[in-house]
Amino acid sequence: MDAPHVPIMVEAVLDGLQVATRANALFIDGTLGAGGHSAAILATRNDNLIIGFDRDPHALALATERLAGYGERAQLVHDSYLALGKVLGDTLVDGILLDLGLSSMQLDQAERGFAFRFEGPLDMRFDPTSATPTAADLVNDLPAEAIADILFRYGEEHHSRRIAKAIINARPITTTRQLADLIEGLRLPPQKIHPATRTFQALRIAVNEELEAVETMLPLALQHLKVGGRLVVITFHSLEDRIVKQFMKTEATDCLCPPRQPVCTCGHQATLKLMSRKPITADEAEVEANPRARSAKLRVAERS
Ligand SMILES: C[S@@+](CC[C@H](N)C(=O)[O-])C[C@H]1O[C@@H](n2cnc3c(N)ncnc32)[C@H](O)[C@@H]1O
Repeated sequence: MDAPHVPIMVEAVLDGLQVATRANALFIDGTLGAGGHSAAILATRNDNLIIGFDRDPHALALATERLAGYGERAQLVHDSYLALGKVLGDTLVDGILLDLGLSSMQLDQAERGFAFRFEGPLDMRFDPTSATPTAADLVNDLPAEAIADILFRYGEEHHSRRIAKAIINARPITTTRQLADLIEGLRLPPQKIHPATRTFQALRIAVNEELEAVETMLPLALQHLKVGGRLVVITFHSLEDRIVKQFMKTEATDCLCPPRQPVCTCGHQATLKLMSRKPITADEAEVEANPRARSAKLRVAERS
């Protein structure tokens, strides 16, 4: 098996997690993918450990093969990163990495149904072994308003109602091309991206409950970081980045009372220190070599 997914901003991840200077550290890779970031962490020192999670059994198999040479230093779990608490118990860790979204392997596997450029079943589950609804289930079973709502909220699709109506009229829709052709046929006003891009993003986010998972994970990550431990999050679209940015900002603030209130009544105390106010982005050379890096934003915070 090969590992075609190219990890993003590896140096910034290693710096953010302070991998080189932490002795006997335990890191969590919440989104293993092909294990590229984990491999870089394990290769930086010979005394650190990784616990890695992925919902996708195919990704886990790739990461297992890639990290096999590190033996017991890499423990891989087929589960959501939300299983962190169950796996760690009371153990605190030195760093947590979340490289959100989907991998290029997932996008390239036609049978996973993530890509509108290939014909495949309209699935989109990160874990195809789970009993949760597929994208086909959503488009075939939900009422038009609920579909439009998904497209608007998770895809920021301005033509959500028109697309939802067309979906309802064309049901059942079972394949990626069927859905993409339907949207192309609507002749929406020209835009830079393919007209089905936002619909596919929205369905993927809904199928995997991605935003809910990030929202639940961030406070969980905080609970499991040692004081001085680092949280590094890479996002690929504004919906996710907004959640991460807002969380880090709130947790880095002592008092959350309205600014004009003379005395604090909320008692909130900062638990994070922001390592930079602005997100880190990939440089031109990386974007040229790996166009996926273009939209990536990396944020780092430290448990205080
Ligand atoms: C962008 S890729 C990660 C790539 C990885 N950093 C590498 O270097 O190869 C995101 C991965 O996160 C996984 N994923 C998404 N949501 C997840 C969740 N809630 N729990 C665990 N894994 C998740 C996806 O299945 C995918 O394999």
